[in-house]
Amino acid sequence: MKQKNTQVICLDGPSGVGKGTICLAVAGHLGWHILDSGSLYRITALQVSRLFPDVEAKTIEAAQLADIALNLSVSYEQMDQNLVILLDGEDITQQIRTEEMGAKASQIAAIPAVREALLARQRAFLQQPGLVADGRDMGTVVFPDAVLKIYLTASPEERALRRYKQLKDKGIDVNLSSLVEDLRVRDDRDMNRKTAPLKPASDAIIIDTTELNIEQVTGEVMNWVGQRVG
Ligand code: C5P
Repeated sequence: MKQKNTQVICLDGPSGVGKGTICLAVAGHLGWHILDSGSLYRITALQVSRLFPDVEAKTIEAAQLADIALNLSVSYEQMDQNLVILLDGEDITQQIRTEEMGAKASQIAAIPAVREALLARQRAFLQQPGLVADGRDMGTVVFPDAVLKIYLTASPEERALRRYKQLKDKGIDVNLSSLVEDLRVRDDRDMNRKTAPLKPASDAIIIDTTELNIEQVTGEVMNWVGQRVG
C-alpha cells in the first residue's frame, strides 16, 4: 500500500562507496523496501545498447532515449534470497553490473529528459512500511522531503579497491588501475553534469567511510535512523 506519509531514507554518494551494501543492511534491519536507483540507469543503458548496437548514446536524440527509459518493461523479483531484475521477462541482473554498463549509464544519466523519464518510476518504490533509496540524487531531487539523508564518501583509491574486490569475488577479471581511472571519469561526469549533479543535500549527514568497515557504517547509519525515524 502506498501512503502519502511513508518514510524514506536516502543514501547518496559516488560510485563504489558501498551504498548498495549499506542500503540492503539498513532496509534489512527495518524491514523496509529498497530502491537501487542506479539499476534503472543501467537497465536503460542496456536497452539503449540493444536497440542501437554500436551507436554512441550521445548521437541519439534525447527524446528517443527518454522514450526508452519511460517504456522499460522491467520488474524486480525476490527469488530465494536474491533480487532478480527482469527486462522484458529476461534475467539481466548480472548483465547490468559490468563496468561498461556503469559507464554507459553515467553517460545517459547526464541527459535531463532521461532523468525526468525515470522520476515517477523511482517514486513508485515508496511503499509502506518505508523505503531505503540509494543513488546520486535521492536526497536532492527524487525524495527532497526524506526523513533522513545520508551522504557516503570514501577516497577514490579505497572505492576502487572495494569495487575491485567485489568484482574479483564474482569471478570478474579486472585491472585495479583501470578501475581507478574509470571511477575518476564517472565521478567527474556525475559531479559536474548540469542536471541533478552528485552532491550532498544541504540537510544531509556526511559519513566518510574510508576507514570504516560495513558493520561500522551500518551502525552509524542506524544511530541516525534511531534518532530520526519514529
Ligand atoms: O550506482 P550505479 O553505479 O549503479 O549507477 C550507475 C550510474 O547511474 C552512475 O554513475 C550515475 O551516473 C547514474 N545514476 C544517477 N542517479 C542516480 C543513480 C545512478 O545519475 N540516482
